[in-house]
Amino acid sequence: MNILVTGGAGYLGSVLIPKLLVRGHKVRTLDIGYFGVEHIRAMRPAVEILRDDIRAVLADQTATEALLKGMDVVIHLAAISNDPSAELNPRLTEEVNFEATRDLAVACKARGCRFIFSSSCSVYGEAAGEASEDGQTNPLTAYAKSKVDSDQFLLSLADANWRPAILRNGTLYGFSPRMRFDLVINIFSYCSTLYNEVRVFGDGQQWRPFLHVADCARAFIHFAENPRHKHVICNIAHENFRVVDLVEIFQRINPACKPVYVKLENPDLRNYHVSVARMKEEGITPTVKVQAGAEEIIEAIVTGRIADPEAVYYRNAKWLKELSELGSRDHRSLIGMLDLMASARR
Ligand SMILES: NC(=O)c1ccc[n+]([C@@H]2O[C@H](COP(=O)([O-])OP(=O)(O)OC[C@H]3O[C@@H](n4cnc5c(N)ncnc54)[C@H](O)[C@@H]3O)[C@@H](O)[C@H]2O)c1
Repeated sequence: MNILVTGGAGYLGSVLIPKLLVRGHKVRTLDIGYFGVEHIRAMRPAVEILRDDIRAVLADQTATEALLKGMDVVIHLAAISNDPSAELNPRLTEEVNFEATRDLAVACKARGCRFIFSSSCSVYGEAAGEASEDGQTNPLTAYAKSKVDSDQFLLSLADANWRPAILRNGTLYGFSPRMRFDLVINIFSYCSTLYNEVRVFGDGQQWRPFLHVADCARAFIHFAENPRHKHVICNIAHENFRVVDLVEIFQRINPACKPVYVKLENPDLRNYHVSVARMKEEGITPTVKVQAGAEEIIEAIVTGRIADPEAVYYRNAKWLKELSELGSRDHRSLIGMLDLMASARR
């Protein structure tokens, strides 16, 4: 199949695209390149890379036509992709996360192109009991609201001839060619390794559903390759844990690791664990548990494969803040510089 992956140079996309290539699919990606795109350029067979802002492409009929020409499926990952970065500029979040999703979905439906959307379990916000797809959402942040709005719009667009898939993913972890160290298990992986400690904000009793990035990629492939998927909205998660449970896992990996509890003036209210009954009905079975995913990152740090886990560009909010403070012209040259550094390393 011909598959367009938006945001393909990101943490999830960089794991998904090689898996699509291995399965014989042709991949085009549209990505603004906030975190560079050179790692995608290195992939074989070659990926067609369109480095542009999705908002600019969708505002232009001809560019939209060219973007979707020949595509069977669109996997839509491009987003301002966590709570703190979404709060930096809520209007940008609305435009990229909701309006671009809406416009891209409408363009796909008009062309008979299938559409798979990367939503998030964070739509459940604070939920008592197991959150299921047909239950209430409770978005507590601009990011979560942008996902709820997108989910609802996609549902309203669905009909007998055009059935999107909405994957509500748990919090991801694990190694990616474009790493993120602003996800709790990835952060714990480097802190427990470099400092023998992990910082727990609040009492650590908050529940979260977790999912390895490669398992998430496999779930997208399942929906891409099965047009007759059973469900339109599906939670995708592997293990539900409280943050204190994660501490125990990290102490098993590194017995010297200690938790440091940090009191918060404005505690994080998000607290949800999710049902994966629908995911099971789809026949999706995640395989990489939290401990194995953490060990994979830790090995990458210890062996120098990830040389500088504290670098700012592994943290979406800090990096996007730096880019916006530099202004758009310097921002582009800075991203270009990152790409040059990446090619020099190869
Ligand atoms: N990482 C997680 O834990 C997680 C969990 C649930 C859902 N998700 C969702 O999955 C998707 C991918 O997440 P990720 O972790 O890979 O995030 P990421 O930030 O690593 O990747 C997002 C990509 O989108 C691109 N992008 C941002 N704005 C763009 C624009 N205006 N035009 C074109 N490209 C743009 C960025 O350059 C980046 O490469 C997102 O939609 C995110 O909300 C992620």
